[in-house]
Order: sequence, then C-alpha cells, then structure tokens
Amino acid sequence: MKDENRFLIPQEETVKQKEYIEKVSLLIETVFPASPKAFVHTYGCQGNVADSEKIKGMLVEMGYVLVDEVENSDLVIYNTCAIREHAEDRVFGNVGALKNIKARNRQMKIMLCGCMMQQKHIAEKIRKSYPFVDVVFGTHVLHRLPEFVYRSLANGEKFCEIPDGDGVIVENVPLHRDSDFKAWLPIMYGCNNFCSYCVVPYVRGRERSRAPADVIDEAKRLVKAGYKEITLLGQNVNSYGKNPDYGYDFARLLREINDIEGDFIIRFMTSHPKDCTRELLDTIAGCNKVARHLHLPFQSGSNRVLKAMNRGYTVEQYTELIDYAYKAIPDLSITADVIVGFPGETYEDFCETVNLVKKAKFTSMFTFIFSAREGTKAAQMDDPVSEEEKSRWFRELLSVQESVAAERTAESVGKTYRVLCESVSKTGLIQGRTGGNVIIEFPAPESVIGNFKNVTVTESLTWILRGRLLNE
Ligand code: SAH
Ligand code: SF4
Ligand code: F3S
Repeated sequence: MKDENRFLIPQEETVKQKEYIEKVSLLIETVFPASPKAFVHTYGCQGNVADSEKIKGMLVEMGYVLVDEVENSDLVIYNTCAIREHAEDRVFGNVGALKNIKARNRQMKIMLCGCMMQQKHIAEKIRKSYPFVDVVFGTHVLHRLPEFVYRSLANGEKFCEIPDGDGVIVENVPLHRDSDFKAWLPIMYGCNNFCSYCVVPYVRGRERSRAPADVIDEAKRLVKAGYKEITLLGQNVNSYGKNPDYGYDFARLLREINDIEGDFIIRFMTSHPKDCTRELLDTIAGCNKVARHLHLPFQSGSNRVLKAMNRGYTVEQYTELIDYAYKAIPDLSITADVIVGFPGETYEDFCETVNLVKKAKFTSMFTFIFSAREGTKAAQMDDPVSEEEKSRWFRELLSVQESVAAERTAESVGKTYRVLCESVSKTGLIQGRTGGNVIIEFPAPESVIGNFKNVTVTESLTWILRGRLLNE
C-alpha cells in the first residue's frame, strides 16, 4: 500500500456502511409511524463539532429528523470530550439525567461516542453504572454509525465498540452542516505530540492529514455553495502534510485555498509554537483571505514547566515567534491557552507565566487549571500544590489578562473591520467577529446575517467591541 493510503479505510467498508444506511431507512418505515427524531449533543472542541456534523449527516440519510430536545427523541447521541475532569463530569451528569427520560420513553435509544468513550475505564463505568445506555463507540469507528444504528434497532442489541488503533481517514461521509455560511473543515486528525498532561493522543490516535486534493476540493465546494468563512481544523495544523508524507505543507495549503476565487475568509486552529515557522507567518501576511488571527497556545511561561510538559520550545522561542508575527502581520491578534498548576509548578514558575501574559498582548486567553488525565505522564507526577492555591493563581492570571485584553480592545476604537455577521445577541444587536476573532456587536437588520459588513468600532468593553455599520 502506498504510504499516502496508510490511514484510508477499505472501499468495502464504505460500501457496507452505505448498505446499512439503506437497511436502516427501510427498517425505520416499519418501526416508526412518522420520521423518528434524533438529538445529537456535542461536548468539547471544534474537532468534535465537525464529527457531529458527520453523525448528523449519516442520521439524516438514514431518515431521522434532527431535533433540539432530548424529550421525546427516538435516538440520543452524546459526542463526548475527555480533555479535563470537569468535561467528563458534565457528561456523566447529563447521561445520568437520561435515565428518567428513558423511563418515560422506553423505545428511546441512547448512544455515547467521542473522546471520553475511547477510554476503556470510562466504557466500563458506563456499562456498570449506566445500564440504560444502549451503545458506546470510540473515535476510530465513527463512520460505522449506520451499522450501529441498524444493530440497535433491528435486534435491540446493546454493545460497546472501542477498538484500539492509530485511527483512520474516512472521506465522503454524508455531512449535515450546522451553518450555511460558516464551515468547519478538518484537514487532519489525531496528534503525535504527547504533551505530558494531554489525553488527546490517546483518544484520537496518530496524527494523520487528509490528502491536499481532498481538502482543496472540499474548500472549493464550500465556496461554491456560498460559505463565507472556512475554518481549517487540526490539533497542530502547522504540521499538516507530514503524516503521511505528501511533500506538502500548511503554508502551501493556505496559499492554494486563498487562491480559490470567491468572497470568503479563512481561519485555522490550532497552531503549535514548535511547528509554527516564519515562512508560515509570512504566508499568512501575504494571503488576503486569511484572517489576522493566530491561536497559539503557550501553556506556561516557565522553561522548566514547558520541558516537563514536553512542549518542545522555550519561552524565548515563543516570544521571538510572536514578536516576529506581530511585525510580519499588521493588525494581528494572538490568542492562547495556558495551564495553571501543572504538577510541580511553583509560584515562581507561575509568576513567569504572568510575565509572559503581560508582554504577549493576547486579545483573549483560555486559562485552565491542570486536570490529571488517566494514562498521561503528568498524572503520575507529584502534585503538591493544593486546589485552593491553584484557584488563587488562576484568579490572579485572569485579572492580569483582563487588563491586557481591555488595552487591546481599546486600541480598536475608531478602526473599521470587515465583519461576517453571524447572529443576533441577547440584547438584539447583530454579532460577528473581527478578523482578529474579537466579538463585535452593532445595530443592523437581521437580514445582514451571513454577509460581510464594514463596521466601525465605537466602544470597547474589555473582551468585546461595540460598533456601527460604516456609512449608516
Ligand atoms: N492541540 C492544542 C490543544 C488542544 S486541547 C494545542 O496543542 O495547543 C485545548 C487546551 O486544553 C490545551 O491547549 C490546554 O491548554 C488545555 N488542556 C489540555 N489538557 C489539559 C489538562 N489535562 N488539564 C488542563 N488543561 C488541559
Ligand atoms: Fe494535546 Fe499537545 Fe496534542 Fe495539543 S499538541 S492535542 S496539547 S498532545
Ligand atoms: Fe475534547 Fe477530544 Fe477535542 S478530548 S478537546 S473533544 S479532541
């Protein structure tokens, strides 16, 4: 087999799943008086959101109608996340709540999938403590959903499918996109970095890129269908094209998508500092459709902690990189993720993180308290600092970032941005984001949703902006 096809599933498997879709649609006609209802709920990152769009696509082909409520659904699917304990607790809470709902609606099928379910100890806990769950399946077999639905409906089978493996790439799965103007476009799956705190490489398998031709084709189809924003997704998009080796890199992918004719913007996440090159930053600067935004998690401002995290760069390298980025890309906004309270982190280490945050001028930052994940290296490390102490550090860091963000948004007042109008806010204003991914609200008719408008910033409110339509 050519290396490039290493992760592709055999053609027979695709054909088999198509047959299951047919079988389910016939079965549905005999089992349900009207089209059955499916409720799909997604936890976690955009990668999971994109997976749920495949789940929904397959369900629609089978004959389900998608609904927004659990109550009275015939099929409930929770696509779960394992990144922190809190994420898992929420899933357990919500699954627990299904018990009573299912007691009132006995024919309801409950299926759990996603990152959390790829872990054997979780599947075991579900089997023991949540016996009303019908099916559990892992991340590597998402494309077999039609088969799972069939087995569950036809035979009332209860089962758990979480095969180990490096993971697969499945093309041509039916998709049901949540939006008709904003699209997620996964360009790669999995992760090879094994940051010592992180569960992703264990639950998502090895890093594998989709073929450039498949990605570009999908981007072209999206633009043709009128999509205005395409977000390229991967845990480390900067290493796109390396596994399998296509002799092709992320900068080239950006350029080729940028060259597609049409009025749209390109976003991407997540970038990894160890693989983010100056050439890539220059490429972003030269691509007019690529948003002026870089999500570049640094995780810690201490070299000692970065090493223990296995991140593969130093604070100095990170700072040089963002200095270069700010110079190369005018009006760039950088956002980041950071972990507070990594095992063995001292207050001195934490202060180095605070220093970096003061200098880096992030427009926003996601701050997380370390959460031990079973099977990861960090879960084995000594972790003497109390949760209360970590919470104090967490609050301290938030307040530092709050003033940095306030300064950054204040710099935008008076500037005009081309904004994709996305939704109506609670206060009745139209909401969109600047190229730098800062939320901006402004009065406008609802008919602007899905279109680009020029908006002048009139006011900054720490994390978000207020504005008015230019010339109105
Ligand atoms: N691939 C991305 C991050 C994906 S997870 C990257 O490398 O940047 C999103 C964020 O969750 C991470 O950036 C990290 O800040 C946080 N995170 C991951 N594992 C965590 C853990 N065990 N405890 C606390 N935060 C964690
Ligand atoms: Fe997790 Fe690190 Fe991979 Fe990001 S790069 S998904 S933090 S292992
Ligand atoms: Fe969560 Fe899996 Fe994404 S663990 S953050 S849903 S890759």
